[in-house]
Amino acid sequence: MSTRRDEILKEMGLAPLWRLRVAPAAGGAGSADATPPASVSSSAGASPAAAPALHGERVTAEAPAQSHDARRAAIMQMDWPALKAAVAQCTACALHAKRTNTVFGVGDENADWMFIGEGPGADEDAMGDPFVGQAGKLLDNMLAAIGLKRAENVYIANVVKCRPPGNRNPEPAEADQCEPFLERQIELIKPKLIVALGRVAALNLLDRDASIASLRGRVLDYKGIPLLVTYHPAYLLRSLTEKAKAWEDLCFAVRTMQGLQAANANAE
Ligand code: URA
Repeated sequence: MSTRRDEILKEMGLAPLWRLRVAPAAGGAGSADATPPASVSSSAGASPAAAPALHGERVTAEAPAQSHDARRAAIMQMDWPALKAAVAQCTACALHAKRTNTVFGVGDENADWMFIGEGPGADEDAMGDPFVGQAGKLLDNMLAAIGLKRAENVYIANVVKCRPPGNRNPEPAEADQCEPFLERQIELIKPKLIVALGRVAALNLLDRDASIASLRGRVLDYKGIPLLVTYHPAYLLRSLTEKAKAWEDLCFAVRTMQGLQAANANAE
């Protein structure tokens, strides 16, 4: 571990915790040392087919002008530039009125790993990038501990792309309007593994309510893509005792990814 990273982790009270005992293996993440592996879902490796890209055609994401289904269908046809433009111009829910920036997502658009939070806070709204505040710093450290870096081999996005005022949870109607954007991002990226950060992200991705405790440590499913759930980094900043559990979750995620990669290699 570098001195700089040691210093950062120490500063955040994480010093011995976010550390892999074995050097990272191919694919970005090393084998980790924690609880025994759980089985990988039979959907391992499956990914949705990409929809045909629409180039140079203006497809709006405005709610009032189009029916819910037509809007969704239009978004599901978008390529990256069209999707980014649609998010930047979106006025489909009330959140747009108070935003400074939309927060589209960041990272490798072909990443195997995708981490999904709930929605931008004040720092993200000001910068236009996800997880750039205190919680984001912790997320970056968590990612670094398993060999991932936001600009390189992981994609980070949120359930909603505009800041809910006062950092409240997104309303179901707001998440509903944003859902096709996230779904299309996932379709385009085709991650091997999704990690939902916190209950709001899990609830929206799994479309059911459940406690984090009941969802952790299991390989769940988002439209054929394996999905794991862990605590939101903002919660971890407030609940130091849960950091050990989050570390277990990351170790579980690494083992799950290794299982997926091995299954893919065997299938080739
Ligand atoms: N919390 C989130 O869920 N997402 C962000 O981008 C920042 C904080």
